Amino acid sequence: MSKIILTGDRPTGRLHLGHYVGSLKRRVELQNSGEYEKILIMIADAQALTDNFDNPEKIRQNIIEVALDYLSVGLDPSISTLFIQSQIPELTEFTFYYMNLVTMARLHRNPTVKAEIQLRNFESNIPAGFFCYPISQAADITAFKATTVPVGEDQLPMIEQTREIVRKFNSIYSKTLIEPEALLPKNNACMRLPGTDGKAKMSKSLGNCIYLADTPEETKQKIMSMYTDPLHIQVSDPGHIEGNTVFTYLDAFCQNTHFEQFLPEYNNLEELKEHYTKGGLGDVKIKKFLNYIIQSELEPIRAKRKEYEKDIPAVYDILKAGSENARTLAIETLDEVKQAMKINYFDDISLIQAHKTKYEF
Ligand code: TRP
Repeated sequence: MSKIILTGDRPTGRLHLGHYVGSLKRRVELQNSGEYEKILIMIADAQALTDNFDNPEKIRQNIIEVALDYLSVGLDPSISTLFIQSQIPELTEFTFYYMNLVTMARLHRNPTVKAEIQLRNFESNIPAGFFCYPISQAADITAFKATTVPVGEDQLPMIEQTREIVRKFNSIYSKTLIEPEALLPKNNACMRLPGTDGKAKMSKSLGNCIYLADTPEETKQKIMSMYTDPLHIQVSDPGHIEGNTVFTYLDAFCQNTHFEQFLPEYNNLEELKEHYTKGGLGDVKIKKFLNYIIQSELEPIRAKRKEYEKDIPAVYDILKAGSENARTLAIETLDEVKQAMKINYFDDISLIQAHKTKYEF
């Protein structure tokens, strides 16, 4: 079976380092591995509208930001199909039919939806569109017969929901859809990169993000004021690694070669951690080290972004071509789905002929 990737992001803001280590970087590696027959990367504007329906301008403006972030990290439109969800109207058709296969109780139990309902204070007034977005996400994945969905851990309930829909569809109608697998980030630090303030997650509203498009100065300033270990007051004090944001970021970004380049007194991260735990290693030093690493990672991304920023119409052209390409694939699968559900009346000669015994014609 050919391997197909589908994944995406809601265009509610610029992408940040959490997105980068949690998924973007991996996507580029997967893209360049040559192991996948198709790679589809979707800007999920329709999903973003389920809880931003009253602010379409925000979604509209962020489509280009997300597209620029994609291109600047190295997603290559000649290999990967970059497209906009709303431009594939077939996805809403899949969603409508899949709705029959999911109960309200099941949607209520979806942990991601549960958490988001709480976060948005939707408790007593959940918009139906928002409540059903896991079904629409199943449509996104299955419409392209994706086998592999690289996502963060928070998206696992969505993949599980999709798998259930696929199994139900295939058993009721006929084996048509592909059961996808989630592909998680490689390590825990990448899975859950905290905000610069040490809070569990980077979030725009908390103001604790480092954006891919931040300037070198902004990035440095954010790193130098990162949350570390509140008990590590004097340089000589023993420090804690656990919950120390700088070390979590180092776990996500640091490679042994960075030591040769930026901090040759140590051979690896273990040695650095040991010294910090023992005492005698200051926060400024580890922050500076992290700053070098992050800057070296972001520098080529910023440069690429600058290039694409010079030709925004070309970026829209990439999205348009990608959307047309993706639509062709979705139409093919939708035909199969309708055939399986027997709602292909006009191209089913046997249906028309079968009426012969009842009506003489
Ligand atoms: N729910 C995802 C997010 O919030 C975005 C998304 C929409 C997605 N459809 C998808 C991710 C399909 C993977 C596959 O980031």
